[in-house]
Amino acid sequence: MNYKNLVTEFENGILTITINRPKALNALNAQTFSDLKQLFGEDAVKLENLHGVIITGAGSKAFVAGADISEFSSLTAETAKELSQRGHDIFNLIERFPKVVIAAVNGFALGGGCELAMACHMRIAGEKARFGQPEINLGLIPGYGGTQRLVQLVGKGKAMELLVTADMINADEAYRLGLANHVVPIGEEVAKAKEIISKIATKAPIAITNTIKCVNAY
Ligand code: CAA
Repeated sequence: MNYKNLVTEFENGILTITINRPKALNALNAQTFSDLKQLFGEDAVKLENLHGVIITGAGSKAFVAGADISEFSSLTAETAKELSQRGHDIFNLIERFPKVVIAAVNGFALGGGCELAMACHMRIAGEKARFGQPEINLGLIPGYGGTQRLVQLVGKGKAMELLVTADMINADEAYRLGLANHVVPIGEEVAKAKEIISKIATKAPIAITNTIKCVNAY
């Protein structure tokens, strides 16, 4: 598995993916989307004895600080539509992945980064994690399904407030709202995700895959 902007490790049936653009706070640019598409659409399904996948961000500051804003300036209405569709397609691949996918949120999860975390089946927040949908500050709406997934996770009223105010929330508030499954000390996000996947690995794999399908039919 070789990608430009992802570092992967496959150990004990757990695939850990690190989004690796720390200088840009791991913002999702075209290359990173292409890497994620290759990984979730082609490579990961072929791994033998895969029990689950973890997504985290490189560095100590961010999970993913959003879509890469530097790619926005040249967008036209047509290319913006394509960019949004590409994000939807790839996040749907993640949401529909047949094994459990957990976001280990080690810092900022903003905009497309919060949307990526929400496309995962669970979220582990480190104490430093910050969640938010700041698109409204840029005159945009979340482009990759966040308006729907946030409503499903925290309810319509709170989702509406977060989306139209662009307020950023901390890990404890994310846990209180049901956006984060657990809050753990800084640096223990991936370890907690591994602990959960190791438990899942003892369960019936076909039933796990069908549970994911049924929950996604919500
Ligand atoms: N895209 C591209 N680069 C980004 C980025 C992004 N979303 N977020 C941060 N960066 C870059 C910065 O430009 C900066 O690069 P340079 O050092 O080359 O200047 C570097 O990451 C570090 O960022 P800051 O200096 O801003 O760090 P900070 O600690 O002062 O602030 C932050 C951190 C609050 C996360 C701030 O970076 C920020 O607000 N980022 C933008 C967040 C955002 O608006 N995300 C939503 C994007 S839109 C989206 O995602 C749309 C969609 O759904 C389709």
